[in-house]
Amino acid sequence: LFPRRHQRAGRSLMRIGIIQSEPAHLDPKLSCTRLAPQIEACVAEGAEIVVLPELAGSGYLFPNLEALSGLAEPADGSGLFLNWLIQRCKEHDIAIVSGYAEVSQGTLFNSAAFLTPKGVRGNYRKLHLFDTEKELFQPGDAGVPVFEWRGAKFSILICFDWSFPEVWRMAALAGADFVAHCSNLVLPWAQTGVKGHALCNHIGVFTANRIGTESQGDTQVTFTGGSQAITPTADLLASAPRAEIWQGVFEFEPSLARNKQVTGHNHLFEDRRRDMYSL
Ligand code: ACM
Repeated sequence: LFPRRHQRAGRSLMRIGIIQSEPAHLDPKLSCTRLAPQIEACVAEGAEIVVLPELAGSGYLFPNLEALSGLAEPADGSGLFLNWLIQRCKEHDIAIVSGYAEVSQGTLFNSAAFLTPKGVRGNYRKLHLFDTEKELFQPGDAGVPVFEWRGAKFSILICFDWSFPEVWRMAALAGADFVAHCSNLVLPWAQTGVKGHALCNHIGVFTANRIGTESQGDTQVTFTGGSQAITPTADLLASAPRAEIWQGVFEFEPSLARNKQVTGHNHLFEDRRRDMYSL
């Protein structure tokens, strides 16, 4: 039904899926079972790459460091959750971007992997840790890489990273056409805020948030759903419900993101006054 590369009037489109899921708390195997029909629904709509939430296998709250360490996986894709997702990439000939808990030589990162039928193609470690994440994870140490999939370039940001304009600019200046925004949002502002980042950089933003409530000791967190797809001119292509699982697939045109001209006299990158500021 959907050819792998979508051509319309000579322009090359990519079909990007977003999954709003409810990960099973501390149970990656059950999270996989829940994700399977959502991935299949995206594939049925022709998705070539699918974005999943932050920590999509393990859930968000951990009783202690030991519990997190027991669920964390290396970035090579050999752990239960990433390996299961790679099998789905092989089965459907797609790419997946998913949040997961990473362990690297004993250090724990809140990360997201770029997975393809050939395995792990990229990794991003959340730079801006939110609230009590700081008690468990180390902040990312590997910048904001740009990855490429079938002609489209993208970066990954994770949830609270959205609050920092610097990382959006870094991604855009490095050539990202869109940002895969893997999220477990609890505050109500990201869905509005990322529209500004899209506009200021002319890039697409695909936010995959989760739903549900998790409790651990005295802490209870409710996630806000509202996953969304935003064009480089901040048009809202879809907004998911706040408390139901959901998935959607959207056409994205990289060439629109590569045009940074906003008037005949204004270019988003070239007009920056770097003599006046150092960013
Ligand atoms: C968050 O960064 N998970 C709110």
